[in-house]
Amino acid sequence: MTPATDEPLDPAAIAPALLAWYDRHHREMPWRVTPAARAAGARPDPYRVWLSEVMLQQTTVAAVRGYFERFTARWPTVQALAAAEDAEVMAEWAGLGYYARARNLLKCARAVAALGGFPDRRDALLALPGIGPYTAAAVAAIAHDEPVAVVDGNVERVASRLFAVELPLPGAKPWLAALAVTLTPEARPGDFAQAMMDLGATICTPRRPACAICPLTGPCGARAAGIAAELPRRTPKPEKPVRRGTAYVATDAAGAVLLETRPERGLLGGMLGFPGTDWAVVPPPPAPPFAADWQPAADPVRHTFTHFHLELTVMRATAPAGANPERGSFVAAFDPGALPTLMRKVWEAGR
Ligand code: ADE
Repeated sequence: MTPATDEPLDPAAIAPALLAWYDRHHREMPWRVTPAARAAGARPDPYRVWLSEVMLQQTTVAAVRGYFERFTARWPTVQALAAAEDAEVMAEWAGLGYYARARNLLKCARAVAALGGFPDRRDALLALPGIGPYTAAAVAAIAHDEPVAVVDGNVERVASRLFAVELPLPGAKPWLAALAVTLTPEARPGDFAQAMMDLGATICTPRRPACAICPLTGPCGARAAGIAAELPRRTPKPEKPVRRGTAYVATDAAGAVLLETRPERGLLGGMLGFPGTDWAVVPPPPAPPFAADWQPAADPVRHTFTHFHLELTVMRATAPAGANPERGSFVAAFDPGALPTLMRKVWEAGR
């Protein structure tokens, strides 16, 4: 047989091999319809596909499962979610991160409910608030079998290796997306999209791809060149700056906890939190919510956002009688589970 290096990759040969692998090795997920059920005519619920895709943009499949089960038990349809109170949804979302996405989720649910259901086509999905190109393509392909490419980080990695693309990310993104389009089949595009994701998550993994058991090892350009584990290349990112600030954990004599709803705009917008200073590279001056005997917690809280590391000094105090906080209010029945992750860390440090 001719070595794979000498043969140009035939994009049309990829989908059949990958789909045959997916039929046997797909991962079970609560929002998925198995290939067998799909072949028998079952269709995924666009609401569940959309919800899972929005959640999966935040974190891993393993972490999403629990959130997904709780959301769909509480709000089984997009109409039910559209009718939910904002604060209830924000509380269920707590811990997933990127809270602006939870607000967009609700905006989108309400727009979809007003339309009477999800549109089928990618372009119509793209017109909804809070739905970007990735989510529109994923819902159109997975729920409606529209033959569009669904390009996430996994798919970029698989495409960069199959075609041995040495151009570094993020500059390579449009090239990889165009290559993904050439791979996308007319038949079973929804299963194909999920097969690419599963391959990227289980075999074509970032550090140690399991090429020996990969269904695409024959046509893979990076495998032939011996550079699979090195791709995709990346342009080095600038270091994240460290921002600093102070957060204040106060309880009153009855044990109620001082909390505020953060402003809608900005990080952790609309989420519950402890009052505090701004977060800046030059540490902002203290800003306690009332005068008291504030004591620092033993260690600062550290948390990393997309564009910076945060180091928060946590101050704690018991409110003196008659304390009148400038911000927030004392909450008696306080559930730390409703806090975003950063604020949970603050609570642990300052309680
Ligand atoms: N990551 C994002 N969407 C996914 C999906 N539908 N299946 C598996 N992994 C995913």
